[in-house]
Amino acid sequence: MDTEYIEKLNNIKDRCQNCHKCSLCNSRTNIVFSAGIPNSKIMLIGEAPGYYEDQKGEPFVGKAGQLLDQILGCVGFSRKVNIYICNTLKCRPPENRDPLPEEKQACWEYLKSQVDILQPRIILLCGRVAVNSFLDTKLGITKLRGKWFEGPHFSKMMPIFHPSYLLRNPSKEKGSPKWLMWQDIKEIRRVYDQLN
Ligand code: URA
Repeated sequence: MDTEYIEKLNNIKDRCQNCHKCSLCNSRTNIVFSAGIPNSKIMLIGEAPGYYEDQKGEPFVGKAGQLLDQILGCVGFSRKVNIYICNTLKCRPPENRDPLPEEKQACWEYLKSQVDILQPRIILLCGRVAVNSFLDTKLGITKLRGKWFEGPHFSKMMPIFHPSYLLRNPSKEKGSPKWLMWQDIKEIRRVYDQLN
């Protein structure tokens, strides 16, 4: 990959910083564009910034983010080394409510550009909101997680549980959400290691 992608990403980020396409621009402290390594083979897409993300301008820096970093770290993924992280929405919905359809629609072009510019080989759809942005399905995350789908640019795409859900379900027993997440992250690493 040449370095043109950095300029392209910076252009999109600038556009987000000046974006007034939905009302979330009125309440944001910062836009939350991305973290991690842009030319990684793997991209994780979450839902939307929360309080700490909005304050810091970086995705997944609150409690859920710390858990996410731990899970990724178990199989050697790190935002400092080999993964790119972004969200479906770039601005925080008030009180962390679910993104509205018009907010998702307004922000879609930015997420799509991130995917089109970087063309990751693996895309992790973290939670229901990210899943619904890419997969036309009525099935819930419990049915979809752990399965591979064909994603944009011939990527492999897998829905995974959102770390906030895991925080609410702390059991590690066989069959629990945390246990399932562990199976998924090992499978993701296995496929990642097979990429050329
Ligand atoms: N939850 C998300 O989906 N994204 C974040 O950046 C933080 C919490």
